[in-house]
Amino acid sequence: MNHAAAIGFFDSGVGGLSVLRHAVAEVGRAPLLYVADSAYAPYGDRDRAHVLARSRLITRFLIEQGAAAVVVACNTATAVAVEALRAEFDVPIIGMEPALKPAARHSRSGTVAVLATAGTLRSERYARLVSDHGRQIDVLQCPCRHWVEAVEAGELDSPRVYDLINAELRPLQAAGVDSYVLGCTHFPFLVPAIRHVLGDAAALFDPGAAVVDQLKRRLGIVNPGAAHSPVTLYTSGDPARLQRHAHALIGLDTRALSLPF
Ligand code: DGL
Repeated sequence: MNHAAAIGFFDSGVGGLSVLRHAVAEVGRAPLLYVADSAYAPYGDRDRAHVLARSRLITRFLIEQGAAAVVVACNTATAVAVEALRAEFDVPIIGMEPALKPAARHSRSGTVAVLATAGTLRSERYARLVSDHGRQIDVLQCPCRHWVEAVEAGELDSPRVYDLINAELRPLQAAGVDSYVLGCTHFPFLVPAIRHVLGDAAALFDPGAAVVDQLKRRLGIVNPGAAHSPVTLYTSGDPARLQRHAHALIGLDTRALSLPF
């Protein structure tokens, strides 16, 4: 691929910025396009048809804007739509996968928790992942109610967030979990609050950097140099709000535009 061609990313909201941040200084000068589908979020509580339809529209839009590859920076959309997108579009489509394999290898207690949306946890793709990499260990699932909404609201360390995290993680900790898979791209933004609840001994697995490595391999990007990519943000929600969040979450100062659908 020509390194100046654009790369698209999308998520239901700001979660995928936790993946995009690894790409900004890693892909040469390739422009990065990011779609936050905030008006149609959260994906994790919606049915498959909704997530599939939005994923198709957004992927087509990103390709029309010049994307030569698309990163589905959302575990839920990957679980539901990645195969359909690969069949329908001609560009490389990179998906997310909860990092169960490294977590299973790392765990001493033999009990691992996957923190993800209900949509991801009930998917066939997730069931395959557990049967491929979770046979030798106990895998506990946690749908982490209201965590995505908290991140979308910019609430990362309020007492309410600590309560939400406590409610989900204390029982897992009591069940002997020592390794936690961050299986939703919103959750890396809660790591300080998760650490506050679990302490430093717990291992947290975020696949964001590995996904960008995979993107680079697919595109043949070997020596990206020191350049930073320009980023354009799009949203089906409020552009000014996305701009503020992108600044607060990953220090991005760039404009955000309205999605035309
Ligand atoms: N960030 C998304 C994920 O990785 C989904 C959040 C949502 O919209 O429910 O699954």
